[in-house]
Amino acid sequence: MKVLLFGCGRVGRAFCELLGRKRDVVESASISLVGVATRSRGCVFNSHGIDVDRLLQWEALTGRIDALESEGTLVISDANEMLEDLDYDILVECTPSDFEIGEPARSIIKKAIKRGKHVVTANTGAMSLHFDELTRESLEIGVKLLYEATVLSGTPLFSLVRQGLPGCCIRRFEGILNGTCNFVLTVMGMGSTFDEALLEAQRRGLSEQNPWVDIDGLEAAAKTVIVARSLMSANVDLKQASIKGIRNITAQNIEEAKRRGGKLKLLSRIEANSNEIHISVSPEILSLNHPLAHLEGFSIGALLLTDVIGEICISGSGSGPKETSYSLLKDVLSLREG
Ligand SMILES: NC(=O)c1ccc[n+]([C@@H]2O[C@H](COP(=O)([O-])OP(=O)(O)OC[C@H]3O[C@@H](n4cnc5c(N)ncnc54)[C@H](OP(=O)(O)O)[C@@H]3O)[C@@H](O)[C@H]2O)c1
Repeated sequence: MKVLLFGCGRVGRAFCELLGRKRDVVESASISLVGVATRSRGCVFNSHGIDVDRLLQWEALTGRIDALESEGTLVISDANEMLEDLDYDILVECTPSDFEIGEPARSIIKKAIKRGKHVVTANTGAMSLHFDELTRESLEIGVKLLYEATVLSGTPLFSLVRQGLPGCCIRRFEGILNGTCNFVLTVMGMGSTFDEALLEAQRRGLSEQNPWVDIDGLEAAAKTVIVARSLMSANVDLKQASIKGIRNITAQNIEEAKRRGGKLKLLSRIEANSNEIHISVSPEILSLNHPLAHLEGFSIGALLLTDVIGEICISGSGSGPKETSYSLLKDVLSLREG
């Protein structure tokens, strides 16, 4: 299966690295990367497959994608041409998340679906704003739209529920979904100020380009909406979510949580009461026996209450590009398996 990668920033690059590292798995699944598109650093296409190691070497040397020199590799001047005219089977979409209109990802995904291509996306913004439209169109055309990478990075949530818990209903969801906020709260708990902690999160390159999207809870809320729509069939959107971030959290708040025998965490909640679903994101004191209280640093996790087997808890130690790229590869491999 031929993969076209749209966006080669932190996540897209990590995806290329993973394709190189897992070459045996990728080759035995007959998967090849045939195209890479960026906004300003060029686009390349090779119908026989791009050598990802060479692509990354050239990119490291020049900062450009279209610097790659290899037989059969074409430099394409217009990313749209690759999307609409060239031959591929799966679009892997890694352009930046926009939380107001979900572009350019929404249009990119729609164009691929319209051409009958499967789509694997990491785009939290577009999926939270256009979940119904995009999933409906993919169903109508008969292609798959997979989005494991949008929530919990590399830790499998959607596939766990779909494949591991068939027949179960999710009654309640609690999650620590934003690694940057968890990191900031953890580092503040060790004595740093809010500004020092945020600077360190940014220095490690793991926050959204605009860190306030993380800090003010919007990114976590967008992820929560995707979970509610996908796993609880809830017809909710971002505007209905009650969102409070950690911008105003002080050392005193962290100390107060400790004094009360707990930890302060930015918690996403989905509560289903009779026929209403309520979504919220806010800082909460979790008692130390709460399964998510011990997640520190960039760790993320979720606690699901099911109607059949009670609670299930999952967590992952990282929420950066490396982990996110694994979900992209996992989704691509699942398409190969049918
Ligand atoms: N970073 C994480 O740890 C993480 C975790 C989970 C989910 N995500 C999601 O993954 C996605 C990618 O994040 P990122 O951190 O990799 O972003 P990023 O570093 O900003 O990279 C974005 C890439 O998209 C390219 N791009 C922008 N507009 C484009 C267009 N119209 N056509 C083709 N390419 C375009 C950019 O091109 P240029 O290189 O020319 O600018 C860049 O290569 C986002 O939706 C984000 O929310 C990220």
